[in-house]
Amino acid sequence: MLVFEKSRPGRGCSMLPACDVEIVLPKEKDKRELALHMPELSENELSRHYTELAKKSHGVNDGFYPLGSCTMKYNPKINEDMAALPGFTEVHPLQPAHTVQGCMEVMKETEEYLCEITGMDHMTFQPAAGAHGEFTGLLLIKAYHESRGDKKRTKIIVPDSAHGTNPASAVMAGYSVVSIPSGEDGCVDLEKLRAVAGDDIAGLMLTNPNTVGLFDKNILEITNIVHGCGGLCYYDGANLNAVMGTVRPGDMGFDVIHLNLHKTFSTPHGGGGPGSGPVGCKECLTEFLPSVLVEGEETLSFVKSEHSIGEMKSFYGNFLVVVRALTYLKTLGREGIPKASQNAVLNANYMMNKLKDLYTMAYDEVCMHEFVMSLSDLKKKTGVSAMDIAKGLLDNGIHPPTMYFPLIVDEALMVEPTETESRETLDEAIQVFRNLYEMAEKEAESLHAAPVTTPVTRLDEVGAARHPVLRYQFS
Ligand SMILES: Cc1ncc(COP(=O)(O)O)c(C=O)c1O
Repeated sequence: MLVFEKSRPGRGCSMLPACDVEIVLPKEKDKRELALHMPELSENELSRHYTELAKKSHGVNDGFYPLGSCTMKYNPKINEDMAALPGFTEVHPLQPAHTVQGCMEVMKETEEYLCEITGMDHMTFQPAAGAHGEFTGLLLIKAYHESRGDKKRTKIIVPDSAHGTNPASAVMAGYSVVSIPSGEDGCVDLEKLRAVAGDDIAGLMLTNPNTVGLFDKNILEITNIVHGCGGLCYYDGANLNAVMGTVRPGDMGFDVIHLNLHKTFSTPHGGGGPGSGPVGCKECLTEFLPSVLVEGEETLSFVKSEHSIGEMKSFYGNFLVVVRALTYLKTLGREGIPKASQNAVLNANYMMNKLKDLYTMAYDEVCMHEFVMSLSDLKKKTGVSAMDIAKGLLDNGIHPPTMYFPLIVDEALMVEPTETESRETLDEAIQVFRNLYEMAEKEAESLHAAPVTTPVTRLDEVGAARHPVLRYQFS
């Protein structure tokens, strides 16, 4: 039942203090014509409503969540305690800078740590998510070429294994996309890259490890080729959980990057945010950044350069995500950060090796923090698809891996166990995967019907996409 259906007129739980400022009513022309629908429930009913909803969904606190490319790691609760401190929550973005120096220090310190981890020189925390960071980074690349009077660079190279947001961001930034196919090994095909690298290329967007979970061994050559034709290299840092503290995008030859703080640096995400996609860059791009934090003699202040691309979001981005990230960085420290990545890689390889005698791996190589399997053979043999196995996992209390992505792998399931899962959890999940495989061979029909234990069973996904109901209709 929806919260509006539970609502009863006059039943409320308003705990707002009495208004202590003059009430200014809107002008007649600005008044709304229809009544505002606000649900009216007692605190008790409201609390039960959200608890009921929470029980219907699956989060990191409920169980294993190996959603590839999403890094659903456990987020330590101390991050929440820090983000809830009144000194952070009870400030207003329009307060004079000298009254919020503590918050600015949080951003400066986080910037310094993240620049050290990534090999960048400066960073902005304005972008609200990874895709927003990509768009910001591409505008920096554009501003760089334009500042040199180089107008002929109209294309961005994007490998076909890229996350869909990469080409979308490139188009939004006004570029056309040159897609290059991956080689048999799942990595960038150097010959194909050389063939498109010309004086019309503004840059390349790449994630490393890439979306099939492999670290591109030719990375230095790739960035050299792009620089050789005058382009810049953009690092999609959504997969940094595999390499943080071990290798740096700046040392791989990248000029500009985004990070997904909400993934790698531990903030609960999914369901729409809040996220944070800070963009870091090398010195050559710094003058184009949105306002940057500058350290004066005694105070920190934001300064906008005359060549800045302008602000990408109001004020400072999702500041409390930065507080969580800093807490995480300080908790793990210099030794803990690379260790977290190494354990993420170890867990992924452990699972992959325990499954590869049954499931076909898209690339049978040492993987990084995630691996991709193709259920193409299983589907041909039994009719059971990647979707069926994913739905079967739900009946076993496991969130499905990412399905049908990357697009270059047929019937793909992309598994990212993360470093925060124990050996026992991995063993249980491995057993579930193996049981489902056996079930596919013996009783495919029951997998086509899965899930049967969840609040909603198999959904009509085509119907939902074609005829979405996005708004509650009040009678
Ligand atoms: C490789 C990669 N790049 C970019 C993004 C976009 O990040 P966001 O969802 O924060 O916009 C994602 C998100 O899943 C991703 O996996």
